[in-house]
Amino acid sequence: MMGRPKITVVGAGNVGGTTAQRLAEKDIYDVVLVDITEGMPQGKALDISQAGPVCGYSTRVVGTNGYDETAGSSVAVITSGIPRKPGMSRDELLSTNAKIVKSVVSQLVARSPDIILILVTNPLDAMVHVARLVSGLPKSRIIGMGGILDSARMRAFIAAELNVPGPDVQAMVLGGHGDTMVPLPRYTTVKGKPVSDLMSKDQLDAIIQRTRDGGAEIVGLLKTGSAFYAPSASAVDMVEAIYHDEKRVLPCSVLCEGEYGLKNVIVGVPVKIGRSGVEQIVEYELTVNERAALEASANAVRELCAAVDRLMA
Ligand code: LAC
Repeated sequence: MMGRPKITVVGAGNVGGTTAQRLAEKDIYDVVLVDITEGMPQGKALDISQAGPVCGYSTRVVGTNGYDETAGSSVAVITSGIPRKPGMSRDELLSTNAKIVKSVVSQLVARSPDIILILVTNPLDAMVHVARLVSGLPKSRIIGMGGILDSARMRAFIAAELNVPGPDVQAMVLGGHGDTMVPLPRYTTVKGKPVSDLMSKDQLDAIIQRTRDGGAEIVGLLKTGSAFYAPSASAVDMVEAIYHDEKRVLPCSVLCEGEYGLKNVIVGVPVKIGRSGVEQIVEYELTVNERAALEASANAVRELCAAVDRLMA
């Protein structure tokens, strides 16, 4: 490809703005920031550009209220929609955000037929379903960002508890990005050591619960929005895995067609990410209980997707 690959970020709120900033700092992409609010994407794009001379990047960042500038995008990170208020579940955002994501996806795909979509808007797994219904793209190019964030929270809590560096902790959280998520302590390690050898069951159980509630904990503290630093970092990790053709295995929300015994449902599973998007769903061996938890989570997502189907009928 000539020039830098174009990455579009839709939604210039906290998640979108921070995603655009993180992408600009990589200094390898062109970034287009789209939002319906007049002035906001333009203002944030200018501000990010003006940090370039200080931070040492020359990324071109364009802010716009329309989609013409997005033509020829390699990847779009879709963050637009309303966030949770304290006490709300992600699922309560369904009808409003389904309409927004439907319109965003059709505008993007019309101008960039080869695009890979990274969904961030909640309720996440159901928004992947919306994108599938609207876009006509193959399943390998529609990926939801949930598992990396949930795993990052678990890793950070373990790192703090054991006083070790966060990057040394590996964790895997599967399932829907919601209250039924499935943290897998058997696949959670610190420099290769099983986490269960390093802390008590009570400590680990408390961390698992705090991971499940990780998004709500931040919503409760911020009061006027939801988390954005770790969500944007997680979305950018996916863009990097695609652009650098890394083939890294990351937990992401994708359509399962028989993997893990799950038929035709979108749920967080380990996937190998490379230049063409999802290259493979990687099947970890699960215990009977882990598999049952994943199935229960998939069923919760199924219900939300059925609600999407009713809304969009
Ligand atoms: C969270 C929201 C963004 O988990 O889903 O913080």
